[in-house]
Amino acid sequence: MEHILVVIYLIASVTFMLGLKMLSKPDTARKGNLIAAVGMGLAIFATIFLYKGDSGQHLTNLSWIFLALVVGTVIGYLMAKRVQMTAMPQMVSFFNGMGGACAALISVIEFQHISHSNLGAELQTGLPAELVGKMVIIFAGLIIGAVSFSGSMIAFGKLEGKINDLNLPGQMFINMGLLLGTLIIAGLYLGGVVSGSSWFYLTLALSLIYGILFVMPIGGADMPVVISLLNSFTGVAAACGGFLYDNNVMLIGGILVGSAGTILTVAMCKAMNRSLLNVLIGNFGAGSAAAAGTNASGGSTKEINLSDAAILMKYSQKVVIVPGYGLAVAQAQHACHELEKLLEDNGVIVKYAIHPVAGRMPGHMNVLLAESNVNYDKLVEMEEINPEFNTTDVVLVVGANDVVNPAAKTDPTSPIYGMPILEVENAKNVIVMKRSMKAGYAGIENELFYQPKTYMLFGDAKDTLSKLVTEVKSL
Ligand code: TAP
Repeated sequence: MEHILVVIYLIASVTFMLGLKMLSKPDTARKGNLIAAVGMGLAIFATIFLYKGDSGQHLTNLSWIFLALVVGTVIGYLMAKRVQMTAMPQMVSFFNGMGGACAALISVIEFQHISHSNLGAELQTGLPAELVGKMVIIFAGLIIGAVSFSGSMIAFGKLEGKINDLNLPGQMFINMGLLLGTLIIAGLYLGGVVSGSSWFYLTLALSLIYGILFVMPIGGADMPVVISLLNSFTGVAAACGGFLYDNNVMLIGGILVGSAGTILTVAMCKAMNRSLLNVLIGNFGAGSAAAAGTNASGGSTKEINLSDAAILMKYSQKVVIVPGYGLAVAQAQHACHELEKLLEDNGVIVKYAIHPVAGRMPGHMNVLLAESNVNYDKLVEMEEINPEFNTTDVVLVVGANDVVNPAAKTDPTSPIYGMPILEVENAKNVIVMKRSMKAGYAGIENELFYQPKTYMLFGDAKDTLSKLVTEVKSL
């Protein structure tokens, strides 16, 4: 039986890696997710029926385990079915928080086990030498899991608009002090200097408070980076559980989540040209929006009406659509796909230019466009599409702002200076579809809107795209 369990764990681990690999491409992502989920299901059921603990006994309390499985599955299924695409980051944050809570609870349960074992009495006066290794893992899982749980819950609340930013005076020092205090207490316990369960629970309480204070001052728009970071914490905390139970699949799963989360965090920061420290303590997005229709140097914007925009696009050879956060907010992906098909039917070559951090979560635009069945071949990454703009007749910017802001290349004082952007200004004509002159995520003015070949088409993206479709049809 044990050998079968090992083989199933091996198969499950392979499905995790395969799934993760397949998630990196839109056309295989769905299948990759399914494969990894099947692997996880296998690992869970194999553990329930085949795993034997130290005492050589199979798991007991099966009715409780199945009750929890059913409740969790139903809640997860309903949440995933009902969630809006724009609310995806907060759902990821919520689920990640649950993972962190599980990891912290494993530490609490294992601590309880030890306290009630024959070593429990010794634990009240000092840490027995044979328990030091196990306790290090228990404390690591406790601290990392608790920080991930409370931090993720705050991130969830912020993205839901229920919690506002809180920046106490000297917040950085408070946070550093709290983290240091928590680590010192854990160190003293593990060094046998202090003993008793109250120190253990004090560590748990301080870790929870640290998680809250760590995320509280970070701006809502920076949450995806924070969630990805907390996700990597949860992975590490779960890996601690794998060590505790000598469970390879849990260990591998945790390490994969931990490393994937770290890589994603670094990739997001790189694509925004910001350091992780700047994301965690910076005050991004606090700049002022531009005044309606004029820029700092008195330049003004030009508007285009629906009929002229339709003519310009229908009689082009090549149109590149740049989707951004506004496309997601407006849920305009279906209207956008309709316009794309219509233009193609009229002989126009249409492509989508995908910026790595367009929207508010990794792969946001790919997921949205895949939802409306846009052909994956039409989605072109930034590095590939940039050289194509000078042969493009019209660029249609739909609810994007920062990812097409030339200040990233020309203004060293700009907060986005150095961020690679879609160089749409090289196209013959640029039509920008948004509701107003308001700034995007970075809170800064966009000189693109004032350039001679740029035309503003004001309105909600879904509404305007639908009207544009009607106009093109009527030509
Ligand atoms: P943004 O710069 O945020 O601009 C979005 C624009 O959409 C806004 O200027 C807004 O203007 C417009 N908009 C909003 N609702 C709309 C609607 N219903 N219809 C039409 N337009 C609408 O978006 P972006 O260009 O996609 O850039 C993404 C930004 O988010 C980058 O700065 C990036 O660094 C940051 N970020 C991304 C991620 C990831 S992983 N994707 C993570 C964290 C941060 P109006 O209000 O005038 O309509």
